Amino acid sequence: MSGSTHPRRVLLIGGTSEIGLAIVAELARKGPLEVALMGRDAEQLQRAADSLRSQGDVKCHVLAGLEAQQPAGHAEMVAEALARLGAAEIAILALGVLGERGGLPDSGRIGEALDVLDVNVRGAGSLLMHTAARMREQGGGTVMVLSSVAAQRPRRTNAVYGASKAALDALAQGLADDLRGDGVEVMVIRPGFVRTRMTAGLPVPPLACTPADVARAAVAGLERGAQTVWAPPAMRGVMLALRALPRSIFRRLSI
Ligand SMILES: NC(=O)c1ccc[n+]([C@@H]2O[C@H](COP(=O)([O-])OP(=O)(O)OC[C@H]3O[C@@H](n4cnc5c(N)ncnc54)[C@H](OP(=O)(O)O)[C@@H]3O)[C@@H](O)[C@H]2O)c1
Repeated sequence: MSGSTHPRRVLLIGGTSEIGLAIVAELARKGPLEVALMGRDAEQLQRAADSLRSQGDVKCHVLAGLEAQQPAGHAEMVAEALARLGAAEIAILALGVLGERGGLPDSGRIGEALDVLDVNVRGAGSLLMHTAARMREQGGGTVMVLSSVAAQRPRRTNAVYGASKAALDALAQGLADDLRGDGVEVMVIRPGFVRTRMTAGLPVPPLACTPADVARAAVAGLERGAQTVWAPPAMRGVMLALRALPRSIFRRLSI
């Protein structure tokens, strides 16, 4: 991925995401980029655009007003973003919320848990499908989907978030297989704990990494045509081992 094959047009959905912006910055290190930042708040998106411009040869478009929980507007927003870019070689789906940690929420907070499912599954799923459909129409492209290691083995310490990421991960994998013949790649990125505002204040576990670490792994994965990227890469082996543990043992681990 260099010279004329360098992807020059990138759509970031969740345009203020620290991980998403780090991936864009890593792509910008390889050559000039034209980026559409799609998100909720115009001011925050503008700040993100200014920061990207200061890091390299990056032309930015800002599209505010995205709400994950209002999928009726998604088709139009994705179409508008791609129209601004002309087309996009890469789309990064980075929006998501962590929500309350733990298992069963208090009954008064079940609504908040449903919001997590709504944003991470219904909202992100809607944006993934509209983006993939547009990319198929334009003749190809790659969608990079921010899943999580939490998708791999449900845990009592983040039951709702884990369930939401498992659903999004499954959707992305199924679409990846469905779209291969159409030139559309759907890459699943599974980071472990990443130090961003999403995890601020939480205990930092072993193998925690930074948005820049995820970005390097993601762009390296893009260059080799990977379908799945783990960040840090050692997470692949860790999750393989954890998935192999019998449930009776796994549930006794306080992770
Ligand atoms: N940080 C981690 O440890 C970690 C680990 C594995 C996977 N991930 C995944 O990686 C992705 C990016 O995470 P991050 O750490 O970069 O978090 P982040 O900086 O908090 O970014 C989250 C993004 O989601 C957007 N968003 C949240 N709720 C939304 C809604 N209702 N409608 C529209 N946009 C909404 C936020 O927009 P606003 O700025 O408007 O709030 C922001 O752009 C997420 O999908 C996350 O689940 C993160």
